[in-house]
Amino acid sequence: NAHADYATRLLAWFDVHGRHDLPWQHPRTPYRVWLSEIMLQQTQVRVVIPYFERFVAALPDVQALASAPQDTVLALWSGLGYYARARNLHAAAQRCVDMHGGDLPRDPVALLELPGIGRSTAGAILSQAWGDPFAILDGNVKRVLARRHAVEGWPGQPKVETRLWAIAEGLLPANRLADYTQAQMDFGATLCTRHNPACLLCPVNADCAAFLQGRVDELPTPRPA
Ligand code: ADE
Repeated sequence: NAHADYATRLLAWFDVHGRHDLPWQHPRTPYRVWLSEIMLQQTQVRVVIPYFERFVAALPDVQALASAPQDTVLALWSGLGYYARARNLHAAAQRCVDMHGGDLPRDPVALLELPGIGRSTAGAILSQAWGDPFAILDGNVKRVLARRHAVEGWPGQPKVETRLWAIAEGLLPANRLADYTQAQMDFGATLCTRHNPACLLCPVNADCAAFLQGRVDELPTPRPA
């Protein structure tokens, strides 16, 4: 079936072409996955890597982050920008200590209640930290799915976004959830790019509606002016 096929093909591509040496993958703990996803929300991988390394060296776990002075946290963040991310991270760590036994909660409802964690970041954490079957839907994944399913309408529209979430959840594989999440990020960043996507190299072009219809350049629908 096409669903199993999609994840299987994406994972096979990931095994050869994906990123397997990111610092938060070794070791892949919930804390390290969480920190990386917050840093990656508005910052590119190559910029994040040295900040991530310094941050986990200084504050290696939730407890250390929770008990650090805010100045220390902000100094470690200095240069990454969007400092609300650092303040939310710090507050969330303190909430984890107060309410969740000092670690990140695995319960999606509790995770979503933490400051700085929206639905896609929660999915990225749950799938990568524990291998739980939760979808992600960041800008890259929206573009990939809007093309594969020829979804009309700007993906920032709530109606369109709801449809893309349903598609993302319907495509989840039964296993290798952490790799599947990273595979989608890598695929969107390197092959199914906004401009000049590499459709001829794409492992899933055979069931991409936009590719089959010659509409890759039109999808996803741009934001209305
Ligand atoms: N953006 C958000 N999470 C990411 C990840 N794990 N790898 C690459 N880019 C990302």
